[in-house]
Amino acid sequence: MKELSMHILDIVMNSVKAEASLIEIEIEDSIKNNIIRIIIKDNGRGMSEETLNNVTNPFYTTRNTRKVGLGLPMLKEACERCNGNFKIVSEFGKGTMVESFFERNNIDRAPLGSMGVTMMTIINSLDDCELIYNHKTDKNSFQLSTAKIKEILDGIDIKSNDIMLWIKEYVDENIKELY
Ligand SMILES: Nc1ncnc2c1ncn2[C@@H]1O[C@H](COP(=O)(O)OP(=O)(O)OP(=O)(O)O)[C@@H](O)[C@H]1O
Ligand SMILES: [Mg+2]
Repeated sequence: MKELSMHILDIVMNSVKAEASLIEIEIEDSIKNNIIRIIIKDNGRGMSEETLNNVTNPFYTTRNTRKVGLGLPMLKEACERCNGNFKIVSEFGKGTMVESFFERNNIDRAPLGSMGVTMMTIINSLDDCELIYNHKTDKNSFQLSTAKIKEILDGIDIKSNDIMLWIKEYVDENIKELY
């Protein structure tokens, strides 16, 4: 079973390929409301109407290295398998938002996985792009902003090994505290 964080990584990689300069990840995880809501928003190139209409069809892709695009159809399938739902809003030249809902206690709902590893992997693949990550539970919330981290780092490369490992641990520890 795939972890939700792996889906997040997939969808964010689409935003990276779309040359976004800002990517926002929002996770709302509520035991009280029995729902997990994941939003990934970017200001990248957006999709044409044709792409948007075909994007959840697994045989559609604008890549030419491979004939099938799987990221979005797989997320959609994961949502629908556990009684959730899935929505994409995209405007050509403006950006894209992918919103997915999962029924939290559904037996088919994949675990979240390590957001620390995911954030580390994402940040490592960003060039000239900032990331904002918000994670909210019934108890509290956590935010990570690459722009703010870079400000504190004052010139040290955010992708250096030490900082990458620090980010991974910082995120995982803070997310744990939210539960
Ligand atoms: N955030 C986005 N901005 C612009 N276009 C997007 C975005 N996300 C997806 N697309 C378009 O939708 C297509 C399908 O995306 P999807 O993730 O399902 O497959 P893929 O990226 O082509 O392949 P895979 O994810 O399997 O490597 C992409 O090829 C791209 O054209
Ligand atoms: Mg993809």
